[in-house]
Amino acid sequence: MKTIVNVGMVAVWVACLAGRGAFAAPSEMAVERRIDELIARLTLEEKIGQLCQTNGGQSTEAMSMDKSTEVLDPAFLADVRAGKYGSLLGQRGARNYNILQEAAMAGCGIPLLVGHDMIHSCRTCYPIPLALACAFDEELWERIGAAIAIESLTQGCNWTFAPMIDVARDARWGRIAESAGSDPFLTSRFGAAMIRGLQGDDLADGRHIAACAKHYVAYGAPMGGRDYNAVELSDATLRDVYLPPFRAAVAAGVATVMPAFHSYNDVPCSMNKYLLTDILRGEMGFTGMTISDWAAVGELVRHGVATPGADAAAKALNAGMDMEMVTTHFADGLAEAVAKGTVSEATIDAAVRNVLRLKFRLGLFDRPTLDAAAIERTIDFAAHRALAREAAAKSCVLLKNDGVLPLAAPRVALLGDIATNAWQMQGTWSTFDFSNTTNDTLLAGLVADGVDVAYTEAYTLTGRVDCAAIARACAGADVVVACFGDYLEKSGENNASARIELPGEQLKVVDAVKASGKPLVAVVFGGRPLALPELAEKADAIVMAWNPGGAGGWGVADVLTGAAEPYGRLTTDFPHATGECPKFYSRTTTGRPHVPGERWTTRYNDVPFKSVYPFGHGLAYTTFRYANEAVAVEGAMVVFSVDVTNAGRRKGSELVQVYTHDVLARTVRPRRELKGYQRVELAPGETRRVEIRVPVATLGYTVDKIYRVEPGDFEAWIAPDSDSGKRLTFTL
Ligand code: NOJ
Repeated sequence: MKTIVNVGMVAVWVACLAGRGAFAAPSEMAVERRIDELIARLTLEEKIGQLCQTNGGQSTEAMSMDKSTEVLDPAFLADVRAGKYGSLLGQRGARNYNILQEAAMAGCGIPLLVGHDMIHSCRTCYPIPLALACAFDEELWERIGAAIAIESLTQGCNWTFAPMIDVARDARWGRIAESAGSDPFLTSRFGAAMIRGLQGDDLADGRHIAACAKHYVAYGAPMGGRDYNAVELSDATLRDVYLPPFRAAVAAGVATVMPAFHSYNDVPCSMNKYLLTDILRGEMGFTGMTISDWAAVGELVRHGVATPGADAAAKALNAGMDMEMVTTHFADGLAEAVAKGTVSEATIDAAVRNVLRLKFRLGLFDRPTLDAAAIERTIDFAAHRALAREAAAKSCVLLKNDGVLPLAAPRVALLGDIATNAWQMQGTWSTFDFSNTTNDTLLAGLVADGVDVAYTEAYTLTGRVDCAAIARACAGADVVVACFGDYLEKSGENNASARIELPGEQLKVVDAVKASGKPLVAVVFGGRPLALPELAEKADAIVMAWNPGGAGGWGVADVLTGAAEPYGRLTTDFPHATGECPKFYSRTTTGRPHVPGERWTTRYNDVPFKSVYPFGHGLAYTTFRYANEAVAVEGAMVVFSVDVTNAGRRKGSELVQVYTHDVLARTVRPRRELKGYQRVELAPGETRRVEIRVPVATLGYTVDKIYRVEPGDFEAWIAPDSDSGKRLTFTL
């Protein structure tokens, strides 16, 4: 096979994924000169200080909400003045931010980076990333990124550890909640959009903050779906699946990258030179700063590959780690490592340069403090809340609808504890939300939308079900809306689950409602895809609401009532049972591809082969017809087109998806890969021709570290999800 596109075209691909060029600092030369001057006058100790981040100095509960009145510990302030830290972790409020910056400037004259996890929330909480991804809407990510950035500044943070761009294919892994799902193409697009929103065009404009692409890399593929566990995968899979979002992030100008906790092919990412230097800086051209994950330099000792202090510090720094989070091996051991000759001062200088460059990019040397009150006056918090409600509605995926939605019946019975729990609407990184009020519930949202609703708790998601209470509630209603799923505490960091089936006695709720003869609308909350085949079979309608955020109850109510059209499409598969995990649509082909009913083709002997709901699935309140599908190769583009007709009686939007498969290749290829998508809004009866242009450069794969697009036959599908569509062919 002849190669028609070589590694050089990866750049084109990356640019396509990122959607814009790299950040260009206006006065790079001047900045580099100032960095030179600074480095020349810093002592080794001061340089090492720049490479250290601490979470210390937070006088009360680290997670407490209002930091404005906290009093800083004088000893901590003295350490900051002495230049012991280049960065602080955690928000300490705007007033303390200014005090700390003044102390740092009064000391060695270098301002602080202050970073925190504003993943999907700061003062306003938006849906978790896995939910937001379902909106398939880059602009929404960008708007939310910008809203989070400005709110973060009011809290005294100039840096966030977001976006999380780990491709996540295993529903057992709790951090799937923080991801955009199982697809590298989508994760790349959404990650880059979030970076654009957080960082803006100019990091120093007083409205934006530094972003951090994490967790570098393949953190989403731990064995068994168990957090922090080892990752073993081929170099080709690393490059074609897990690296693309990071390439896109670098192309989008991301300021920082966080190496992950785990070991990749037996070498922890935190000391993995191949990943941190050869690929990240050498191949991708990253010029920003790397920051370890929490205590990850210290964990090299626990991994059993370093001794504490100088050894751990040298191994991390020499591999390409610029800053250490929380543990103190850099502070305790780097000077010793320099004395021993295991770390050169030039390596330390290079890391310090990366730290200082970011501080210049943020404009911190010229303006170390911030006027939070002035920033606050420019924020339209009502608009942020409206954005959160819009995002919540757009994140909902209508999995099933036998015609019972949108709610038209006069009397609605609402069941389940979570329907009145505002906290549970939020999500795994919503600890810092200030907007939460008891009014942010599904019940309140339905009332606000004018629904005649009667609420009965009847059960908790994990506890006993009061079937008699359900029977009474159903008796007085025309339709029943019942909440299912799992609590937000069950997903997120270190929340791997060996069972992703509905917990507790939730299936009893289904049977109790069905026994009443009333239609059942299931609203499912949670931070991961769940195995819910029984619910899929018995409920009349199912809305996947995820952890929809601070205005989530209202956004979900908007979808139930039809005030908002269902918009979301799944970015992960929903399996029948935990045992299928990891289950993802873009699995590679096998020598025995599944054929229903044929004994010796790949399958499980106890669950159907197809997902309960596949990647890309999501219904609208109308139906769409596809016709005249066509594909044509036009130079560097493959052009896919289709007529889409709104065949129903309501307006609605369809998400047209394009999947391809390389028919004959050097290595086994995914059965389908998403290569493009386009949303089309149609009035009843309206038909529009949708055209999706896919760069030829994106149709390749990696062998022996070289990405190539090869001539030959491809299959393609223009489809509403990853399991359906008419098969087309084209040839490169
Ligand atoms: C550990 C998490 O893995 C990472 O995502 C986060 O940014 C840090 N803790 C800091 O909170």
